[in-house]
Amino acid sequence: MGRLAGTARRRVASGGREMTAAQARVAEAVRVTTALKGHFFPTPTFREVQREFDLLLAERRANIEARRQRETRGLLLVGASGAGKTTLVEAVLRQHTTDLRMLSKEQEQADVISMKVPSPATPKGVGLAMLEALGYHLRRDRSAHIIWQLIKSQFAARQVLFLHLDEAQDFGQHNNRSDQYAVISTLKSLMQSPEWPVGLILSGMPRLLDLVNMDTQLARRLKPVEVHPLKASVDGRMIVSALRQYAVAAQVAVEDSLYTPRFVTRLVHASDYCFGILAELICEAIGQMLMAGEGELSEKSFVACYARRSGCPEGLNPFIAENFRAINVRELLQPAPGLGDIRRRA
Ligand SMILES: Nc1ncnc2c1ncn2[C@@H]1O[C@H](COP(=O)(O)OP(=O)(O)O)[C@@H](O)[C@H]1O
Ligand SMILES: [Mg+2]
Repeated sequence: MGRLAGTARRRVASGGREMTAAQARVAEAVRVTTALKGHFFPTPTFREVQREFDLLLAERRANIEARRQRETRGLLLVGASGAGKTTLVEAVLRQHTTDLRMLSKEQEQADVISMKVPSPATPKGVGLAMLEALGYHLRRDRSAHIIWQLIKSQFAARQVLFLHLDEAQDFGQHNNRSDQYAVISTLKSLMQSPEWPVGLILSGMPRLLDLVNMDTQLARRLKPVEVHPLKASVDGRMIVSALRQYAVAAQVAVEDSLYTPRFVTRLVHASDYCFGILAELICEAIGQMLMAGEGELSEKSFVACYARRSGCPEGLNPFIAENFRAINVRELLQPAPGLGDIRRRA
């Protein structure tokens, strides 16, 4: 993680002639928070997925080189909303910007196609959305079978190695049992296509596991990786390290009390056991601290940023409440446009 606060601060100080001191402080805090949110923290799950993906890619390339069009394997990434799945897959693919081409209008070939499953995720609806992403506009009265045949030949023409489908649990959402089977057999047939098999990366909420497990052949081909709910006793060191790295990047001091199990346990609960939300809270707390003109990141900043994000009274603030474990933070933690937040959580 690089440092960013120094330059940001200077710019605000010299460029803020028209602003009052308070306005300049807010502008600086927002700028720092926005930049902090762009930092990716490599978690152990990220490293695991990265290793698995690199292996799959190497296997696929070796098979192509040996002219063995064997059926492919893939990955299944599951975790709660806010755990960091979308960000993780993006980060894994970013590691390959020089050797993997993403789908683009400029070039015919695409090594990876990554898309969010549209809702409702009927076999036909998803097929049409995929064709559209591939630059094809087909009449809606075509059958799902024809649509998917066309997709397969497009994949072969473009030599697509991997297809990433995010929010893939939606395949189970609005479909009846027979449509769910249809989706699953379509996905399986993509991996088994004799013409050009494509490796699947499916990511989504834990109920995606049940869907994939409906077909043992599909399940066998997908290596499952779970983004486990955070546990202060297990993940404490990683969380402390994230806290440290964000503070270094923002060039702010941290009160020692934040490195204690007492605080980390509260932070984990406040994040609903999800690393992505935890990282956002740290960034927003740093912004809060800068806005308040404080010299050190303390529990106070987390109390304030949580209150701001959830709009909850003190009694429901997990950084204050005695019985914080009883608080249902998921209800309170709606994805808020936090300080300078330009992205929305899926
Ligand atoms: N490893 C990470 N490092 C930094 N920020 C992260 C990380 N993982 C997730 N986030 C942040 O958490 C938020 C939620 O992550 P996201 O990938 O959308 O979760 P999910 O797809 O599991 O719902 C994102 O806005 C992202 O900025
Ligand atoms: Mg997501």
